[in-house]
Amino acid sequence: MEIDLVIAGAGLFGLTMAERSARELGLRVLVVERRDHIGGNAHSEIEPSTGIEIHTYGTHVFHTSNERVWEYVNRFTAFTPYLHRVFSVFKGRVYSMPINLGTICEYFERVLSPGQARALVAEQAAEFPDPANLEEKAISQVGRPLYEALIRGYTAKQWQTSPRDLPPEIIGRLPVRYTFDDRYFDDTHQGLPVDGYAAWLERMADHPRIEIRLGTDFFDLDAAGAVPVVYTGPLDRYFGYAEGALTWRTLDYEIEVAPTGDFQGTAVMNYADEDVPHTRVHEFRHLHPERGHPDDRTVIMREYSRFAGAGDEPYYPIGTPADRARLQAYRKRARSEPGVFFGGRLGTYKYLDMHTAVASALTMYDNRIRPHFATGRR
Ligand code: FDA
Repeated sequence: MEIDLVIAGAGLFGLTMAERSARELGLRVLVVERRDHIGGNAHSEIEPSTGIEIHTYGTHVFHTSNERVWEYVNRFTAFTPYLHRVFSVFKGRVYSMPINLGTICEYFERVLSPGQARALVAEQAAEFPDPANLEEKAISQVGRPLYEALIRGYTAKQWQTSPRDLPPEIIGRLPVRYTFDDRYFDDTHQGLPVDGYAAWLERMADHPRIEIRLGTDFFDLDAAGAVPVVYTGPLDRYFGYAEGALTWRTLDYEIEVAPTGDFQGTAVMNYADEDVPHTRVHEFRHLHPERGHPDDRTVIMREYSRFAGAGDEPYYPIGTPADRARLQAYRKRARSEPGVFFGGRLGTYKYLDMHTAVASALTMYDNRIRPHFATGRR
């Protein structure tokens, strides 16, 4: 078919853009995806020996407080009422995460009112009024005892570096709740697609004007340059790394079918001890308690974190001062790249949740793609 718009990348950003452009504007859209599946990092697949749906790139729970996004995604799938809870193991004990009143009472082994807990943490956090590194910044938010138990080892493993040697800018605000609310996400809506991520994402892409070409790298496409492009691949790669490579952390996953009906009693368990090499264990059956699963086998996935080298999957942008300077330079180049719209987590070098990827695609569609085609500039 003739093409009006090329989209590089079939993640949630690219699929939202493809769906809107084909359905609402009637454009003929070619989506090229270098992997052998659509959905980007939200992809899931069935582990054949157990029938359990596994999230190939780590546990994905949909959550949003954005009503427009919630209405939009519900056109393609219904969601289960699953509420995500995360726990962390440290020195043989288990704590609820993110840090909440339950975590604080459990750690200090006493009953504390919200006011008492707040006062205790404030006193312990007063040590570094002007933090010079990640450790000091974390202590200035949660105090030294909780930092040393729940943040230090986990962070050191994530970054393969002592938090004392990491810049303070790479962490944001660590959430601390002075209630017993132990939900991991506090958005209005959360859940999992009832019949799985793959089914949801396939329905988004299912339109006669959308052609998906899997196993195809955008840079191998002859048509590039002839029609407008929405590019959701890595920003630095688009410009041939001319300003230097943006740095990322990557994850390695080790999958095991364990001979038990329940390995850890929850979907995600963090491991905060530094001498345990993995950072998390995912057990996917717990994401769908409403489904029938085998009672003698389960699928677990151990997660290991490290700096991404060339050729590794980029997962989390690092955002050092050098990265930020490079990003500014790439943004400047991107602004003067005719007919190319940069979006998604890789194309903007930003961590995006699924709902923010959808929201930013809808916004780009409204503000840039629809006007671009409406004014006949194709
Ligand atoms: P995404 O990376 O999904 O898609 C981009 C696509 O472009 C990829 O498929 C890639 O292969 C392709 N591509 C790149 N270069 C290309 C080229 N040159 N040619 C062709 N194709 C190319 N979010 C959430 O809401 N809840 C959660 O629980 C989680 N959990 C979670 C866990 C982990 C471990 C990570 C790393 C991330 C999450 N997320 C999440 C975030 C979520 O996975 C993700 O940010 C969004 O799905 C972003 O969608 P994008 O389309 O922007 O990127």
